[in-house]
Amino acid sequence: MLAFTEQTEQLRSLSKRKNQHLLFRLYNILQRLLLFKGPAMVSISPVPLLFLLVLALQSIWSSAPQEQKVQSSPQPEISSLHHPTWSLGLQLYRSLRIDGSQTNTFISPLLLANSLLALEGGAKGSTAGQFHDLLRITNHDKAVGEALTEALKSVHEANGTSYTLQSSSALFSKQVPKLEKGFLEKLQTHFGLQHVALEDAQKQTDMEKLQSWAKSGMDGEETADLELALETKPGAMILANALHFKGFWDRGFYHENQDLRSFFGTKYTKVPMMHRSGVYRHYEDMENMVQVLELGLWEGKASMVLLLPFHVESLARLDSLLTPDRVEKWLGKLNSTSMALSLPRTKISSTVNLQKQLATLGLVDAWNETSADFSTASSLGRGKLHLRAVLHWTSLELAPESGSKDGMHEDEDVEKPKIFYADHSFIILVRDNSTGALLMIGALDQTDGPAIHDEL
Ligand SMILES: *[C@@H]1O[C@H](CO)[C@@H](O)[C@H](O)[C@H]1NC(C)=O
Ligand SMILES: *[C@@H]1O[C@H](CO)[C@@H](O)[C@H](O)[C@H]1NC(C)=O
Ligand SMILES: *[C@@H]1O[C@H](CO)[C@@H](O)[C@H](O)[C@H]1NC(C)=O
Ligand SMILES: *[C@@H]1O[C@H](CO)[C@@H](O)[C@H](O)[C@H]1NC(C)=O
Repeated sequence: MLAFTEQTEQLRSLSKRKNQHLLFRLYNILQRLLLFKGPAMVSISPVPLLFLLVLALQSIWSSAPQEQKVQSSPQPEISSLHHPTWSLGLQLYRSLRIDGSQTNTFISPLLLANSLLALEGGAKGSTAGQFHDLLRITNHDKAVGEALTEALKSVHEANGTSYTLQSSSALFSKQVPKLEKGFLEKLQTHFGLQHVALEDAQKQTDMEKLQSWAKSGMDGEETADLELALETKPGAMILANALHFKGFWDRGFYHENQDLRSFFGTKYTKVPMMHRSGVYRHYEDMENMVQVLELGLWEGKASMVLLLPFHVESLARLDSLLTPDRVEKWLGKLNSTSMALSLPRTKISSTVNLQKQLATLGLVDAWNETSADFSTASSLGRGKLHLRAVLHWTSLELAPESGSKDGMHEDEDVEKPKIFYADHSFIILVRDNSTGALLMIGALDQTDGPAIHDEL
C-alpha cells in the first residue's frame, strides 16, 4: 500500500498547482494504478480511486484557462546539428536500441568518432572506404577530423567547470605483427589513444584486463559487465572507450536523501528525487507526446537535453523518432518557460560492444580476417590483423550540485510552472555549446534502488 499512499500524496500536491499538466499526470497516475498487478491491486478498493478522480477533476474544472509565462529566449538559437557526431550518434543509438534488449544504453559519439578516425588511419582500400562512409568523410576532406579535434579541445576546456569528465581511449591488440611506428605515434599524440598489447593471457584473461582498464579510465567507477564474453584470436584489435561524466548545473537542485519516490522505468524502483523551479528552455511536442527540456551546465559551456514522454512507457516509441531532422526541429523550438522540475538522483552505467551496430551501418570488412585491410597499421598484417570489438563503457551521474562554490539552492519565483516530473524513462543528450558536438547520448530506462514490489 505504500506506493498507493504515495500516489495519493502526489496527486494531492499536484491538484494544488492547478496546472494544465494535471490532465496528463492524472492519466499517468491512473494508468500506473491499473498497472499494479497482483495482491496490491486487490487491496485498492474503488472508493479511494473514485475520490481521487473527483479531487483531481474538481481542480481542473476550477482552474481558469491559463497563460504560460513565457520570456523571450536569452540564448542564441543553436539548432543546426551540423557536427558530424550527431549523425553517427543518432544512428548508432537507434541501432543499439532497435530490438529493445538494451537498457540504460549510453555512448559518447564524440569519443567514439575520434577513436574510429584514429583506427581509420591504419586502414586501406575498401576497409578504409567503409570508415570514410561511416564518418562521412569524402576524399582528401579534413573537415570531419578538424571538427572532432576542435570539439575535443572544447570539451577539454569545459572539463572541471561545466562538468567533470574522466575518459580513456585505447587500441588493444592481441599478438599482432609489429605495428608501424608512424601509426602508433599518430594514434597517441594526435588522437589521444593508448596502445595496449594483450599478450598471452597468464594471470588475467583478456576480458579481465579490458575491464580493469575501463575501471581505471573511469576513475574507479563500477563498470557493468559485457553481455557476451569476448574471444580474441591473434591479430585481433579492440577499440575501447571508457568515460565517467558528471555535470554541474548552472542552477543547483534541491534534494533530500530520505525523499524516496517511485521511478516507473522498465523496473519499478525507489529513487531519491531532486527538485527545482525556474525558467528553462522547453518545448512540448503534443503530436509526439514528448517534453523536450534543456538544462544549462555551469558557465554555459555545455548543456543537457532531456526527452521525456508524457506518459509512462518504454522508450521504444521515442527511440524510433530520433532522426536528425526531428531532433533539430525540437531544439529549434525550445522556448523559455516557467518550469517545476523533478529529476531522479541516480547513476547509470552502460557497457556495449558496438560491432553489430557498426556493421549494420556499413563497417563490414574491418571485422573479417581475410578481407580486413589494416596494412597501414602493419605491413605484415594482411590476412590476420582485424577489428574484433568496439567496446564502450559509460557512467553518467545525475546529481543536484551546481558549479557554484557556495552552491546554495534557491528556487526562482515562477508562476504557474509547467511540470516536468521525470519519474519514468527518458532520453539524455549532452552537447558541447561552442562546437555543437554531441558529447553523449543515452537512455535512462531504469534506476538502481529497491524494487517497489519488495515494499508492497
Ligand atoms: C578532466 O579533469 C579531471 C580532473 O581535473 C582529470 O582527471 C581528467 O583527466 C580530465 N579529463 C579530460 C578528458 O581531460
Ligand atoms: C555558447 O555558444 C554560442 C554560439 O557558439 C556563443 O555565442 C555563446 O557565447 C556560448 N556561451 C557560452 C557561455 O560559452
Ligand atoms: C517563443 O514564445 C514566444 C512567445 O510566446 C513566441 O513569440 C516565439 O515564436 C516562440 N519561439 C519559438 C522558437 O517557438
Ligand atoms: C570474409 O571475407 C571473405 C573474402 O572477401 C569472404 O569470402 C568471407 O565470406 C567473409 N567472411 C565473413 C564471415 O563475412
